[in-house]
Amino acid sequence: MTLSRRRTLQLGLGAVAAAGCSGVERRPVQASDNLQQNFSVNGQMQLKQRAAAKGIIYGSASNYSPLKQDPQFAKLFAETCGILVPENSLKWGPLRPAPDRFDFTEADWMAQYAQQNKLLLRGHTLVWKHSNPDWLESVTSRTAEKVLTEHITTVVKRYAGRMHSWDVVNEAIGGIPSWRSDGLQTMPWLTTLDKDYIEIAFRAAAAADPRALLVYNDNSVEYDIPVHNRTRSAILELLQYLKSRKVPVQALGIQGHLDAAETRFNANKLRQFLKDVASLGLKILITELDVTDQNLPADQTARDRMVARAYEEYLSVVLDEPAVIGVITWGISDRYTWLNQSNSRKDGLPVRVLPYSDTLTRKLAWNAIARAFDAAPKRG
Ligand code: G3I
Repeated sequence: MTLSRRRTLQLGLGAVAAAGCSGVERRPVQASDNLQQNFSVNGQMQLKQRAAAKGIIYGSASNYSPLKQDPQFAKLFAETCGILVPENSLKWGPLRPAPDRFDFTEADWMAQYAQQNKLLLRGHTLVWKHSNPDWLESVTSRTAEKVLTEHITTVVKRYAGRMHSWDVVNEAIGGIPSWRSDGLQTMPWLTTLDKDYIEIAFRAAAAADPRALLVYNDNSVEYDIPVHNRTRSAILELLQYLKSRKVPVQALGIQGHLDAAETRFNANKLRQFLKDVASLGLKILITELDVTDQNLPADQTARDRMVARAYEEYLSVVLDEPAVIGVITWGISDRYTWLNQSNSRKDGLPVRVLPYSDTLTRKLAWNAIARAFDAAPKRG
């Protein structure tokens, strides 16, 4: 019997066709794979309460429209989350329609929603390769530092004192095997300011809001695959470089975009990486957690179990590190997830990737996250 057939049967899937996970390697199903896991949860506490009981912040990203126009969702969001991250409203594209114009409409409304619902607020993101306005291409090496510093100063000062943390720089490395020895990926600010753009950004953010936790945010560190192994090394080298220059970076944000079909998950390697980051005196946030089911079987029971298992397996490792102070999912409901566009399924079935379904009911993923918080060591 093939591995995938045995795995399928063990998941109680009956005749479900084995996952056609093209390009995704499977490791032998190990004795430790408790595939009959029942994901049982004690009590009815919300995710944010379970996290807070261990000194961990739990929350999520959301776009403006769902919170403004979907009251059922907005109510659930406030009940579930302890922190809000505007998913897109604080990026250059939405904020800077023109060199001489800012549009804070959405971001201000979301800051007010957070305050009214007693949620913390975190900013995403001050510097990124993507979601930039076209006019940014006109910035030259001569004007770049002024443009970057003015943007960060204006935006960060506007929410100073209200922002728990900022993703100051996002994906400087980003899992892209760069031609550079330091792994920094090509992006507009690297072209105009070289590596200094990172230090300039953090120093401008620190000057504008000394109270916000300043985060370097990146992805592609989760699995025991060549690009992720290289990315972990490059991120560590970058953080060591920044600390050596006394750049005010205070935390690493690990996005945590997982793939339930990817089984080359090496808990020891990930755990060591977290220890190495913490040894630099940095806090750690899981900043964009979700689990794509793009390469999983169509069967809903199977998908929900495999997605839940990926959440619990990952969180059990990361929450073992005391420096991990927060977990933020990239959405709370399948009704609103970027994965519906970017990681849609070939069979056209709606994705099932977040703690709540598209009808806002709890799924096994919710149980898995709850169980991980319940099992996590309490922070000092
Ligand atoms: O708001 C406009 C709307 O007015 C317009 O009609 C529509 C069609 O063009 O586009 C809308 O903007 C879209 C925006 O999401 C809001 O939905 C942008 O086109 C689209 O590019 C944008 O995608 C976001 C993506 O980042 C790029 O900024 C995703 O929602 C967001 O989930 C994703 O998040 C990123 C993190 O910021 C960084 N880490 C990776 C993560 C996933 O890519």
